[in-house]
Amino acid sequence: MPILPALGDSVRKREAMKKITSFVGGTSGAWRILSMETVAGEPLSLATHLDILDSNLSENFSGNWQLRGSRSYERYTNHEEHEQLIQKSPPLGRPEANSAALIPIQKTDLWWQLSQDERRKIFEEESHHIEIGMAYLPAIARRLYHSKDLGEPFDFLTWFEFDSKDKLAFDKLLKELRQSKEWTYVQREIDIRLVRS
Ligand code: HEM
Repeated sequence: MPILPALGDSVRKREAMKKITSFVGGTSGAWRILSMETVAGEPLSLATHLDILDSNLSENFSGNWQLRGSRSYERYTNHEEHEQLIQKSPPLGRPEANSAALIPIQKTDLWWQLSQDERRKIFEEESHHIEIGMAYLPAIARRLYHSKDLGEPFDFLTWFEFDSKDKLAFDKLLKELRQSKEWTYVQREIDIRLVRS
């Protein structure tokens, strides 16, 4: 009996590992780091460049740090929000989107102890995360990576790409989100700004 569940677990784990993306901070890479601001919690060691690799690098990476995450399904969107996001979200890799931000985030134990509906209430009904964010589409392209279940130091790796002319708009978006109730549950956050190398 225990053999089947064990096999299932290892297959699931292998599938999950396949989709891992590694963000490696070091001295070379496709993106040059302009600044690394510790917004909350422990800082990350400084790096000058970032590489993004579609692989799990845990054993043979040579940077200052690596952060890993995988894409996942949406937890909080309702049907209408989901459809609107599909319509308004631009792809990553647009040639004019020469600026980027990598913002790793860790939430408090208190957040994770809440039930799903309590989290949704804080996330959207009280903090308006999606409503606020939607107003910045399609200028900002975004991708959310989940890290908590990989045993990583951060729970999420958030990645954004935009034209440098939209930097001030992106700063305003962050200011709005950081004033929200949701952000009272953020215990570690590093704001890393980049340009293409
Ligand atoms: C560009 C506009 C933005 C839009 C449209 C947007 C939209 C969303 C949506 C729809 C989700 C929920 C995904 C799900 O259902 O699981 C989400 C999650 C998240 N977003 Fe944003 N977002 C935006 C900007 C930002 C910014 C600037 C940050 C700051 C770092 C951020 C950080 C996060 C985090 C950490 C989560 C995961 C929350 C959790 O699961 O507890 N987002 N975002």
